[in-house]
Amino acid sequence: RTVYVNGEYLPETEATVSIFDRGFLMADGVYEVTSVLDGKLIDFEGHAARLERSLNELDMAAACTKDELLEIHRELVARNGIVEGMVYLQITRGSDGDRDFVFPDPETTKPTIVLFTQNKPGLADNPAAKKGAKIISIEDIRWGRRDIKTVQLLYPSMGKMMAKKAGADDAWLVEDGYVTEGTSNNAYFVKNGKIVTRPLSTDILHGITRKAVLRMAAEAQMEVEERLFTIDEAKEADEAFTTSASAFVMPVVEIDGVALGDGTPGPIAKRLREIYLDESL
Ligand code: PDD
Repeated sequence: RTVYVNGEYLPETEATVSIFDRGFLMADGVYEVTSVLDGKLIDFEGHAARLERSLNELDMAAACTKDELLEIHRELVARNGIVEGMVYLQITRGSDGDRDFVFPDPETTKPTIVLFTQNKPGLADNPAAKKGAKIISIEDIRWGRRDIKTVQLLYPSMGKMMAKKAGADDAWLVEDGYVTEGTSNNAYFVKNGKIVTRPLSTDILHGITRKAVLRMAAEAQMEVEERLFTIDEAKEADEAFTTSASAFVMPVVEIDGVALGDGTPGPIAKRLREIYLDESL
């Protein structure tokens, strides 16, 4: 696999980053995941805009322009022959060759930029989406700026492991009794034909797929309400689903051992997945 590091395309075994990099020592970095379907990048503009916002919020330099980023994404997809898969992009604050809580001087310390691809044949036709996901709920103990897409993914990772251990597929995070989002996706339920999801704030990531799917739902005359909701409400729903760049629209069929509806993917989740893939392919 060819990867991109700080201006160079290299075989993955030859790509290196300093051990003092603040991404490595302090999770001082941001990332984006853009999916590839039929060899094409999905919603690159949205991901680039959110990246810029994440960088601004953390006072980090941009590393390169949006046009350069697009070029690097396309080049990696082409060089690695990705038809279905993902492009991962990470920018960290870099390092001045030491460890210090104080940010290094941006005049003399360049950010580190890394991109690589992941090949995922069968991403669109994912059998997991036909089965639907089983979810457990866990407490949301992440930091308070979840709108910034930082590489601090230890707790979401632990959440996935807790889910696996419980025989489920993923976890939804609950704060003050209300669902925030999934470990790596936004969360929705459907009751009496109405789609409910948490409104945007600093409590959740502003999903690029969320934005696209809510637009598609409105265009398909589906009713959408953005409000706080509890995990108990979700358990009593007719159906539920999550959205993310890596899984698109994923039906949820069970929450904390309670089957939703008849325990199979619901019609609205299935329809939205279809619309999303149709528009993307
Ligand atoms: N995760 N919420 C969280 C906490 C996420 O990590 C993600 C994405 C989303 C969905 O955002 P989007 O629709 O822009 O992908 C919501 C990516 C896919 C990841 O970490 O792999």
